[in-house]
Amino acid sequence: MNAPFNKSADLFLKYVDLKSRLSQEVPFLSNTFGAYQCKNLIEFGCGAGAHSAALAKAGFMIMATDYSDRLIQEAKTYTNESMQVEKADLCQLPELIQKQKYDGAYCIGNTLLLLPDSSMLKKALTNIHSILKPGFPFIAHFINTDLCSEEKNRFGPIRSFPHEDGGELMLVKSFFPEYSEHHPGVSLMAIHRKESGESVVLEHHQNHFLDISPQDFSQMAKDVGFKNIKLLKNFSTDTFDPEKDISLTMVLEA
Ligand SMILES: C[S@@+](CC[C@H](N)C(=O)[O-])C[C@H]1O[C@@H](n2cnc3c(N)ncnc32)[C@H](O)[C@@H]1O
Repeated sequence: MNAPFNKSADLFLKYVDLKSRLSQEVPFLSNTFGAYQCKNLIEFGCGAGAHSAALAKAGFMIMATDYSDRLIQEAKTYTNESMQVEKADLCQLPELIQKQKYDGAYCIGNTLLLLPDSSMLKKALTNIHSILKPGFPFIAHFINTDLCSEEKNRFGPIRSFPHEDGGELMLVKSFFPEYSEHHPGVSLMAIHRKESGESVVLEHHQNHFLDISPQDFSQMAKDVGFKNIKLLKNFSTDTFDPEKDISLTMVLEA
């Protein structure tokens, strides 16, 4: 599959507040996989690989995968004896990955919502189920698209950096409830706010999201063989509330 995320990868990498994400997300991943006594894990859609690198450091054996050449190149900088990095499309796994069985898998940061349609999502879930040992966990994480349309959830925090030509570089992330053909979407805009006060849009990237409710996702996961599905509030052990929680973490057993 073509990797449309390649185009916006650098801007998204700059936008992500990695320090705060890792401090919340890695302990959850590590505790959950630890509770199942997992040893070898696989990440799908690893991006620049920071979560996988942190889990490798925590003692797991990691296979980190993504389909974007640009991001694989970044993730490879973390390669060591506990972490391997390979290019892999979730919807069409390479043989190297297909013939292995893993103790755990994770796919976080909306990767699953970037798949082109629900048949591809089903294919991806089938693939993930097929490489897991029975009873072992898959952790999925994505936003609750039903809540994107609410004013308070429409914008991510604005991030600001000094611009090399003076003034500041502002990164603005927003969600669209109906970006295209009634699908939700995400947009990231880089704006140069000059010292003079003038603002210039430097880059603007948009990606569509699959519009799938947590209930429909759970049903699809059951259909491909997952069981004991838990819906949790963003990387916590609290139960997910679809009316309130903007982000959802699921733990599913193969
Ligand atoms: C929003 S980024 C999330 C990156 C990282 N997991 C994080 O949480 O920061 C989505 C990632 O999914 C990858 N991706 C999207 N579709 C994919 C597919 N079909 N197969 C593999 N990776 C995919 C993109 O290249 C990108 O790295």
